Amino acid sequence: MARKVILDVDPGIDDAIALCLALSDPRLDVVAVTAVGGNVSPEQATRNVQAIIELLDPPRWPRIGAASMPDDGLPVDGRRVHGPDGLGGANFAVAELHHRRPSEKVISDVLRSDPDSVTILALGPLTNVARAFQRDPELPSLVGRVVMMGGAVRGPGNITAAAEFNMYCDPQSARAVFRSRCTKTLVPLDVTNQVVMTYDLFHELPAESTRAGKFLRTILPPVFRSYRQEFGLEGIHIHDAVALAALTDAELFATEEMVGDVETKGELTTGATIFDRRRVPVFQHNMEVAVGVDIEKVKAQVMRGLERAGRWG
Ligand code: RIB
Ligand code: CA
Repeated sequence: MARKVILDVDPGIDDAIALCLALSDPRLDVVAVTAVGGNVSPEQATRNVQAIIELLDPPRWPRIGAASMPDDGLPVDGRRVHGPDGLGGANFAVAELHHRRPSEKVISDVLRSDPDSVTILALGPLTNVARAFQRDPELPSLVGRVVMMGGAVRGPGNITAAAEFNMYCDPQSARAVFRSRCTKTLVPLDVTNQVVMTYDLFHELPAESTRAGKFLRTILPPVFRSYRQEFGLEGIHIHDAVALAALTDAELFATEEMVGDVETKGELTTGATIFDRRRVPVFQHNMEVAVGVDIEKVKAQVMRGLERAGRWG
């Protein structure tokens, strides 16, 4: 039985790679893809979600949710890495979506219609998940699990010295989800930074004649260039694809139960994820945290998944 998932994304190149993988994975039933602002504005994230679904044209289209601005706005974006439109500057055309349903309402509808059986894979800021839980307080008890890409346990942040990007964009929402009474898994930078895709990736992509192959060959070259220019790295991180693998291939990850929270104030520390490792922790909000990964096997899974995405035609 395929696992029902909602992908909450702020595309972003690594979100787009995760979508390619998830939409073609027979182990998953992607019931909804909900856009959230982060790497790009809420409006652009919504356009990108629609463009990706239209371009990949999966056998069964998921419901699409439209992003809206977090209460405190977005302090930063990811365009220096992901391109001005979030997808490497491809500026894909999209048909205008009528009757755009807000992402938090789509999340609520799906969880209500399928209680205790849906996983939310949150690959961007936690604005939508927090809003869904806020508008319908029963939802945390109706979701199967929330798997979040974000935070840092022992390593540094990536958008500030202390904070990872998804948590930094909307720390209030991140704190609300960390404190919610649902089963949570966190896939932090400590793990996702270990998986770097090099140029070999281009030799393994689906054929250019396939929709996935054409799409990936369009969005990937610009992000390899920006990683070289911004970080001097001859390769790219695929944070969101690693978080997806933590869901589909959990045996490739080591996890620990931790109690965590999110800093929402502080000139230097806003967005930092804090874990209470005292002998008798005072924090109450526990979650499973990925602390180790079989790097080569995850990379192999990603390559296998991209090859499978090419079989759509
Ligand atoms: O810090 C990495 C995360 O921030 C990824 O999800 C990336 O897409 C950006 O959203
Ligand atoms: Ca993302």
